[in-house]
Amino acid sequence: MNDVPEAADPNVIHRHTPGKAPERAPLLRLFVNIDHVATVRQARRGLAPDPVAAAQLCEQAGADGITAHLREDRRHIQDADLIRLAETLVTPLNFECAATPEMLALAERLRPVEVTLVPERREEVTTEGGLAVRQNVTVLAEAITRLRAAGVRSSLFIDADPDAIHAAAELGADAIELHTGPYAHAPHDPQRLAALRHGTELGRSLGLAVHAGHGLSVSNVGPVAAIPGIEELNIGHSIISRALFVGLAEAVREVRSVMQSARLP
Ligand code: PXP
Repeated sequence: MNDVPEAADPNVIHRHTPGKAPERAPLLRLFVNIDHVATVRQARRGLAPDPVAAAQLCEQAGADGITAHLREDRRHIQDADLIRLAETLVTPLNFECAATPEMLALAERLRPVEVTLVPERREEVTTEGGLAVRQNVTVLAEAITRLRAAGVRSSLFIDADPDAIHAAAELGADAIELHTGPYAHAPHDPQRLAALRHGTELGRSLGLAVHAGHGLSVSNVGPVAAIPGIEELNIGHSIISRALFVGLAEAVREVRSVMQSARLP
């Protein structure tokens, strides 16, 4: 049974209800990761640019959801940003975090539509690899149970590795996010794309929703978007970078357009 706490619970900041996304019901959703708007802000530790205002622009430009990663060292997104995102977004929020007690407690307060659990190392520049699922079964199982009790979908960020995909299914995760970094580093290597395709097929056959992300851009997203069965792409750095030259709305539209073309029959 889904043990969803009462909406009036004073510990719950916001019971997020997805806005217009279901009406559009896209075959492939674009979630824009706005972390790097906060990276620019944190360069001066001021108020601008505001990642929440950026998220709203992304929604207006056609993003189906917003992703934000609260890192342990708070290098970009801050707790207050997540709270404002949860309060103001009209599309679903995907809260990306490590499966730590601190982050799970925040997820229970925010109750985003989805939490993507990622591995985190303080020294890394960005998330480097997928979760070592089998080595962290106890921690991940507890996290998934807590999220489910709060009415939050869980997604595990993993490499396109059959054993990790089986392990995610055994743990009862709702979704997996396949790490597209290896593909993004060598998009012309057919084996890397094939691994994503096979991983998607396996995940779906085990009843998992399949998402993908990391290192995707207008120039490499097409073949990934064309993989049937992938439901959601999380794209951040390339969109925020491109926005410097064409504006955020146009940068979102460009990626969406490539994704949509890739899904045309
Ligand atoms: N998915 C996950 C799990 C990530 O950690 C990141 C980076 O924060 C992304 C997607 C987005 O990657 P990129 O910024 O390279 O598009």
